[in-house]
Amino acid sequence: MKKVLVATEKPFAKAAVDGIRNIIEKAGYELVLLEKYVDVNEFYKAVEEVDALIVRSDKVTKEVIDAAKNLKIVVRAGAGYDNLDLAACTTRNIVAMNTPGQNSNAVAELAIGMMIYMARNTFKSGTGSELKGKKLGIHAYGNVGKLVGKIAKGFEMEVLAFDPFTPKDMMVQNGVTPVDNVEELYSKCQYISLHIPANEQTKKSIGYDLLSKMPKGGCLVNTARKEVINEEELVKIMEERQDLKYVTDIAADNQAILNEKFGTRVFATPKKMGAETAEANINAGLAAAQQIVNFLEKGDTTFQVNK
Ligand code: 3PG
Repeated sequence: MKKVLVATEKPFAKAAVDGIRNIIEKAGYELVLLEKYVDVNEFYKAVEEVDALIVRSDKVTKEVIDAAKNLKIVVRAGAGYDNLDLAACTTRNIVAMNTPGQNSNAVAELAIGMMIYMARNTFKSGTGSELKGKKLGIHAYGNVGKLVGKIAKGFEMEVLAFDPFTPKDMMVQNGVTPVDNVEELYSKCQYISLHIPANEQTKKSIGYDLLSKMPKGGCLVNTARKEVINEEELVKIMEERQDLKYVTDIAADNQAILNEKFGTRVFATPKKMGAETAEANINAGLAAAQQIVNFLEKGDTTFQVNK
């Protein structure tokens, strides 16, 4: 009997686990659950015998792959797959997938919520401001970026976007103004919402030069990855520009310094919660389980990211 391991340091909602179990057992496989593990050795042990693996942001390192003698497929239930060692998967002929779009709405809603939180002085007393009429720059117009733009238009924000991989006419059709380069986006927008993946091109790419271009009262909203921020340069520009704000769903490595230096001008969620809704867990978890069954039964490699 084939075995599917769900290894989630940050577990799915129960309804999602029930749905995953249903798909896996209906296919005649066994579900193995490893939740809230604290020691990576538990992960190495649990993965030993399994044919398939579902994770969230759990790091699937070469060590995990080496320990997984029978592994044929790993699915990251979510969008960003920077936590998967793709080279190690490819070397072992293991298919790696993500589940694009499945948790996007949850992340988009959080990005908007974070903008309001910062616009209203982190809910402390004092005069805040409104999103209406402000310019929002969407940095990468993928699944989450599109939804952030759509919701922001409901707030009557003016939405601009930069994404070299998305046709500009698609943005225009959605009522979004495309800009030609990233510098233009940062110079024009009071709010910037980050939706770029973390990879060799993007790591530490958001720093002093871009942020210094933001208009007065600028606010950077990060529901993407902490790795894309140049943290030292973030400190430098926030020291120089008393008006800038930074809100993030992924605490910076130097978050304690940011908090101490900038008080309510910065905010980080205590634990990454962009995709922490029952709906997102169900959408992404069930999609991951179904993708595994489709691959193991029919060789379907849709959503493979290590082709
Ligand atoms: C993603 O890339 O899908 C999000 O960052 C969600 O991550 P999570 O599954 O760890 O909440």
